Amino acid sequence: MKKSGTTIFDNHGRPINYLRLAVTDRCNLRCFYCMPASGIHYLPKKELLSYEEMERLIDILGDLGISKIRITGGEPFLRKDLIRFLGRISKKEPIQKISITTNGVLTEKYIPQLKDLGINSINLSLDTLDKDRFFRITRRDEFATVERTLNKLIENNFDLKINMVVMEGQNTQDIIPIAKLAKDLNIGVRFIEEMPFNGVGKTGKGLNWNHHHIRKVLADEFDSLVESPNEPGSTSQNFSVKGFKGNLGIIAAYSRTFCGSCNRIRISSQGLLKTCLYDDGVLNLRDIMRNGQDDNFIRDQFLNAFSRRAIDGFEAERNRKKSPEIKESMSTIGG
Ligand code: GTP
Ligand code: 5AD
Ligand code: SF4
Repeated sequence: MKKSGTTIFDNHGRPINYLRLAVTDRCNLRCFYCMPASGIHYLPKKELLSYEEMERLIDILGDLGISKIRITGGEPFLRKDLIRFLGRISKKEPIQKISITTNGVLTEKYIPQLKDLGINSINLSLDTLDKDRFFRITRRDEFATVERTLNKLIENNFDLKINMVVMEGQNTQDIIPIAKLAKDLNIGVRFIEEMPFNGVGKTGKGLNWNHHHIRKVLADEFDSLVESPNEPGSTSQNFSVKGFKGNLGIIAAYSRTFCGSCNRIRISSQGLLKTCLYDDGVLNLRDIMRNGQDDNFIRDQFLNAFSRRAIDGFEAERNRKKSPEIKESMSTIGG
């Protein structure tokens, strides 16, 4: 690992410049692929990082070359005073881009404030265009709200991506209708392989709907589907379709085909550093900060963690210490 200018490279020569920061573990939906219907143990507030603690970590990471932050949750807009926090971090010089991944239930009313802050990049989770299937998947009756958010984001020219998790027996009939949204709209529509981060553990089904299967469905429908060159660090393999204003993408989140250019780290809402989505936390940043360590110490801990990254999600999964089987909910990790 070496430091050149403000770019830190990990032990596999990959630049680390992208932080995914989960600001809460709470959610107002109950998507079954993310968490069980009930019995979820949300963390008490004092166990979550405070905004001051998050800002401190962002300052240290900004000096280490982090230039892009994606705000995740749970549902980020459930955290009180999120806009004030976004206002503060958007002024930080090293941070060139802030994006948000949201389920769209509470998002609409914040659109003007996000625009004022120059935050115009949103990834919206939407797994179906059918109200009843939406209810079955999310266990909440919020389809109309999310649809309104989608329309408002489009009206306001947001750089918008729709995330659809493809689930066997649940929403595969939605792949083509959702893909067709990109015909008249200049948006990205991404189809995501389902991962076992459902708060319960493996379902034992295997993954029939992997990226090859999804691609075949798209290719069968759209004759002119053409693969676009891969952007470094991107999780999605993108495609263009003749006559489409937007584009399509497939995220092989379970097959993990994109680890070779992985530039991202994660901080969970309780302050665990993950250098791969599939690891079970490599550093407890909250405890380090609350034990009174100074910035230099924390910086060295980050550098140490970056110099020991797993080469891919499979190695990270094998190296899990606390719980070899993945049982976390995506809402505690931050997605
Ligand atoms: P950008 O590249 O910033 O647009 O982000 P993204 O598309 O990776 O982020 P988003 O939050 O929209 O996540 C989309 C899907 O990709 C979710 O299912 C994530 O869990 C998955 N994903 C994001 N990062 C990783 C990763 O590092 N590894 C794996 N396996 N999946 C990821
Ligand atoms: N598998 C794949 N994607 C998931 N997401 C949440 N849980 C899972 C899972 N088990 C997606 C959400 C959201 C993003 C942050 O992660 O749909 O778009
Ligand atoms: Fe669904 Fe996202 Fe909430 Fe998980 S965090 S239950 S994926 S909306």
